[in-house]
Amino acid sequence: IKKIAVMTSGGDAPGMNAAIRSVVRTCAYYRTDCMGIYRGYQGLIEGDLIPLTARSVNNIIHKGGTILKSARSKDFRTKEGRQKAYESLKKNNVDALVVIGGDGSFTGGVIFNKEFNFPIIGIPGTIDNDISGTSHTLGYDTALNTAVEAIDKIRDTASSHNRLFFVEVMGRDAGFIALNAGVGAGAEEILIPEEDLGLERMLESLKKSRRSGKSSSIVVVSEGDKTGKNVFELADYVEENLPEYEVRVSVLGHMQRGGSPSCFDRVLASRLGVSAVELLLDGKTNLMVGLKDNKVISTDLEKAIKGQHNIDTELLRVSDIMTT
Ligand code: F6P
Repeated sequence: IKKIAVMTSGGDAPGMNAAIRSVVRTCAYYRTDCMGIYRGYQGLIEGDLIPLTARSVNNIIHKGGTILKSARSKDFRTKEGRQKAYESLKKNNVDALVVIGGDGSFTGGVIFNKEFNFPIIGIPGTIDNDISGTSHTLGYDTALNTAVEAIDKIRDTASSHNRLFFVEVMGRDAGFIALNAGVGAGAEEILIPEEDLGLERMLESLKKSRRSGKSSSIVVVSEGDKTGKNVFELADYVEENLPEYEVRVSVLGHMQRGGSPSCFDRVLASRLGVSAVELLLDGKTNLMVGLKDNKVISTDLEKAIKGQHNIDTELLRVSDIMTT
């Protein structure tokens, strides 16, 4: 393998730049050429590639977003699109690909590898942490800290006005952000997709909390929760059933995807980038690098997409005890 290309694909996540830096510098270390692909698979289809050297990635380890930009490519879902992508790699003499992204990006990578037998290694980058084969995806730790910081601020208002706040966090169909940020920010209740506790239970717990002398509360709601109500409907529901509560809603949204990566995400990105390049140079393909028991491991890319990454429901119990 003489030349490796790197791209970021899907939703951006803090730590992606640190991972790009790591891939580029590991290539330089092993005297392997490196190229960056702009806008993920879409940029690849359109031939939007640039050569990257160790110096191209100066001063980006601390930056959020991705210098290579990102996209969710519709064209790459078509055979013609993937054919163009392959031609673009050949034209630039690229021998292998590192894809930094989430499950959608890896699904595209698996199909591409099957069709063109092109070497590919994935680095998990998404704030959702919804990928099997790694305890942590890039950006998850930073997003958690961002969410906790925001909820701490909301708590100031909740407590000053004796209010109940519903705070919606991201995570798509996974409750990792909600559960961990909820415990970290001391939320009264946490609603996650993996465990639907029912609305009655939430009312009960809010009543209990009032009885116990609490005058304000925070309920953290995962965007994919299974209550069947969106966060605004949940707020209305509580106001109807518990008129003693003055309720407000705050949707944290894309602020959770931005910002400087935490030290954890920077270190993780650096480790995974090194491993991704070394695996390719070792003749390996179709793997995702990840973290398990604080060791870098690799998992079959298909398994990483299809496998389960279960949430630690023990944290719900911890949360219950903490709200006594
Ligand atoms: O996968 C990351 C994520 O931020 C999810 O948490 C969220 O559901 C989704 O992307 C939002 O996507 P978009 O930026 O396209 O609105």
